[in-house]
Amino acid sequence: MRRRDLLTLFAGALGPLPWSTLVAPARAQGVQAPPNTPPVNVLEFEPLARQRLARAAWDYVAQGAADELTLRRNREAFDAIQLKPRVLVDVSSLDTRLELFRQRLEFPILLAPVAAQGRIHAGAEPEAARGASAAGATMVVSTFASAKLEDVARAARGRVWFQLYVHRDRTVTRDLVQRAEAAGCTALFVTVDAPVIPMRDREKRLGVRPPYTGPSSGGRVSPIYADALDPTVTWETLAWIRSFAKIPVLVKGILAPEDAQRAVSEGLAGVLVSNHGGRNLDTTPATINALPAVVETVQGRIPILLDGGIRRGTDIVKALALGARAVLIGRPYLWGLAVDGAAGVQRVIDILRDELEAAMALCGAPSLDRITRQLVWPDR
Ligand SMILES: Cc1cc2nc3c(=O)[nH]c(=O)nc-3n(C[C@H](O)[C@H](O)[C@H](O)COP(=O)(O)O)c2cc1C
Repeated sequence: MRRRDLLTLFAGALGPLPWSTLVAPARAQGVQAPPNTPPVNVLEFEPLARQRLARAAWDYVAQGAADELTLRRNREAFDAIQLKPRVLVDVSSLDTRLELFRQRLEFPILLAPVAAQGRIHAGAEPEAARGASAAGATMVVSTFASAKLEDVARAARGRVWFQLYVHRDRTVTRDLVQRAEAAGCTALFVTVDAPVIPMRDREKRLGVRPPYTGPSSGGRVSPIYADALDPTVTWETLAWIRSFAKIPVLVKGILAPEDAQRAVSEGLAGVLVSNHGGRNLDTTPATINALPAVVETVQGRIPILLDGGIRRGTDIVKALALGARAVLIGRPYLWGLAVDGAAGVQRVIDILRDELEAAMALCGAPSLDRITRQLVWPDR
């Protein structure tokens, strides 16, 4: 399928969508979209999604922790990095393929785990997974998915990984991992940056809580505790998971190089540099700014992935140039899901893939291994 034809296809697939009411008046950055036109970039999906979703669902997707400084930084940091393109390189053939954990990926973009997608689209995670698989992307399914893991895995047609929140009940935790393996998930992210419920002001205002069950013990229990999140998780817990997991175990939510070093020495398969999309601890750095020190420490011993603020193909080039093997997107595919279900998810991925290819060609990097630190302007 030629993705360049998809703009027209997509416009057709959207059919009855009332663009005149959906197209938002203004965007924070970039060129303002004329009214009544389908989105031509990922950022243009955001105002459309906002119009489609009820207030609580919108805040659920968009929010960050506290003052949302980290949330904003994730974007601002990408914008601040300047590329240093090389010219006169034959870019007539572009190769975006890579191998990760003995799996062939067509391009270095995965769908990040996102809880409770039933709040965004009636088809929930299976709908998103259909879009991902149509675009050829791998989806990471959240522990807190609205749909049954097996149904999501089926819809993802073999391109599926699992994200684990360690449950207080270790039997439940082990069962979840084994269920994921049985369902065909081929890698496991253990999320470690959420030992408690974070402080998200928008959620507090709306009186909605993440999809965790609340504390069950009597007396005053701090509202940061939930049954489904375990504040006792440590490196030993990860070693225990590795002892029975048959698929590669990665750690999601690393910022400190010291923790990345520990992940290597503990034998983990990879790390995901992530601040949970700015949703958990506010005032941490943008992930793209935390990445170089992690890369320096890990020295290529295990793959490093990155998420947080990826909205453009050039963002992906920057992340790869600074040492990530692949990136994950969160909110962008949720916007696609809200706007047009599986077709919207597919379109978001297709746009990013097209932009990545264009950026690679314009940077003189016809394959991923040619995307090196040299492509980033040195004064950053
Ligand atoms: C609505 C929403 C729900 C999320 N739920 C989870 C989750 O269940 N598990 C998890 O590890 N990360 C979760 N995340 C974090 C994402 O996996 C990812 O780290 C983040 O969205 C990346 O940033 P981006 O949205 O700027 O692309 C969630 C993010 C959003 C926006």
